[in-house]
Amino acid sequence: MLSKKGFDEWVKTYEQDVFDSDEAGEFPFAGYRDVLFTIYQTGLKRMPKRVLDVGIGTGVLAKQFYDAGAAVDGMDFSQKMLDVSKQRMPEARLEVQDMREGLPPAFQETSYDLIISTYALHHLHYQEKVHAIKTLQNQLANDGVLLIGDVAFETFDEHERVRRNQRGYWDEDEHYWVYETLQKDFPKSLFVPISFCAGVLIVRRK
Ligand SMILES: C[S@@+](CC[C@H](N)C(=O)[O-])C[C@H]1O[C@@H](n2cnc3c(N)ncnc32)[C@H](O)[C@@H]1O
Repeated sequence: MLSKKGFDEWVKTYEQDVFDSDEAGEFPFAGYRDVLFTIYQTGLKRMPKRVLDVGIGTGVLAKQFYDAGAAVDGMDFSQKMLDVSKQRMPEARLEVQDMREGLPPAFQETSYDLIISTYALHHLHYQEKVHAIKTLQNQLANDGVLLIGDVAFETFDEHERVRRNQRGYWDEDEHYWVYETLQKDFPKSLFVPISFCAGVLIVRRK
């Protein structure tokens, strides 16, 4: 699992590395572009006026909502990642923040039509994820939606099968999503499988 410093150092080659991994169909980024596209399409249908991206990175996905006219807020613990996002989206409100410590005060005062997070929340343990989802749900407008795209599996059996097959690549310090577990805490959530190792979780406010 990468630290803040690790992400700062990765920034220069991050996008190319991820696109190459997706293109090659390799774990962990196989399906990355389809994950982003699914979130973009699903999110855009709601014509969101205000969007929050948690673990925004270089802003590849948030920029699409920005270009569609949404006001974008973003947080990340890597200043270097945020610097790239700022170049892409000069008007965005970007904050350096560790997501395990909650939202920055300005974001706590804002309600969002759409909250997105891609390939970031698997750095949290299960209970931290549950806490983060509840925190983000509370920031949603009444008909708002939280869309999480990440390394994710529908069942624990599937998680274990890929874990066995990807021994050289699987990072035991990361905590990939298992939907059948999450569904117990968020019974109204939905899961859209995207690739052998990726999926999109859909969580509404209530
Ligand atoms: C794999 S990148 C994904 C970036 C972007 N969302 C994307 O889909 O390309 C993970 C991002 O999450 C950020 N991140 C990881 N752990 C974090 C934490 N505890 N708090 C805030 N940001 C974190 C990293 O700095 C990095 O920018």
